[in-house]
Amino acid sequence: MRSKAKSSIPKLGLPLLVFSCLCFFIAGFFASIIFSQDAPAINSRLRMLEVVTEDGVHEPMQHGETGEPSVGSIPFQVLSWKPRALYFPNFATAEQCQAIVKMAKAHLKPSLLALREGETTENTEGIRTSSGTFISASEDQTGTLDYIERKIARVTMIPRTHGEAFNILRYKVGQKYDSHYDAFNPAEYGPQSSQRIASFLLYLSDVEKGGETVFPLENGLKINPGFSYKKCTGLKVKPRRGDGLLFYSVFPNGTIDQSSLHGSCPVIKGEKWVATKWLNDQEEADE
Ligand SMILES: *[C@@H]1O[C@H](CO)[C@@H](O)[C@H](O)[C@H]1NC(C)=O
Repeated sequence: MRSKAKSSIPKLGLPLLVFSCLCFFIAGFFASIIFSQDAPAINSRLRMLEVVTEDGVHEPMQHGETGEPSVGSIPFQVLSWKPRALYFPNFATAEQCQAIVKMAKAHLKPSLLALREGETTENTEGIRTSSGTFISASEDQTGTLDYIERKIARVTMIPRTHGEAFNILRYKVGQKYDSHYDAFNPAEYGPQSSQRIASFLLYLSDVEKGGETVFPLENGLKINPGFSYKKCTGLKVKPRRGDGLLFYSVFPNGTIDQSSLHGSCPVIKGEKWVATKWLNDQEEADE
């Protein structure tokens, strides 16, 4: 009996082991379901990484009437959170940029400023020295601006009806735009019926030297003694043909983000061409 009892222990041991393993497995299985529901943040981050590495081999989701049938990918780099600024390499092709420059060339006029109380064309001379013209997508027979406008709407998720016409600008050597806000502060400009909430710049040319877009107050109001809004200090973005720059002028709550102050540094060598699209909180009446 003794020996029988002894030998029965290993016999019982194996099924017991299998059974307890099974219990642990089942418990673990349900636990993983519960925990994965509790921690969606981590999972979605991992999924985001997968999206980048798999390089476009996704089954598209069923989409709504206004959605798109395929999964797209538009590369970007976060340049800053203060202000919220995104950089899009190769947003447009060289051919598209050339087509826009060609279109604008015939219509260039000295760029204007929105004037504050007490400001005149004379006493603000020299703040903005570029030449430019406004062209809406519907005026462009080549369809280039239409394509760019749709792409801007996709990356901002701000419908294209909220965009002003493209402002195409040319800066020659020495020309610049002193730092300013794109949003209009009602305290300075009076009551506003709509507000510019974001700006998308598409660089249409390379610039050999100078001509950077500059954010002097990036990452807070670090105003040191020598600070001047006319100087080109701060976060600088070098223009490269085809690249895009998006930044927001207001916080999500609608108040103006003081760190969105920006300007165009003087061109030192070469010529700068840029297309600006201002995005408003209200729909544009005539577009
Ligand atoms: C709006 O948001 C900014 C940034 O989060 C914050 O500093 C500011 O106090 C907010 N203003 C109001 C009026 O809520």
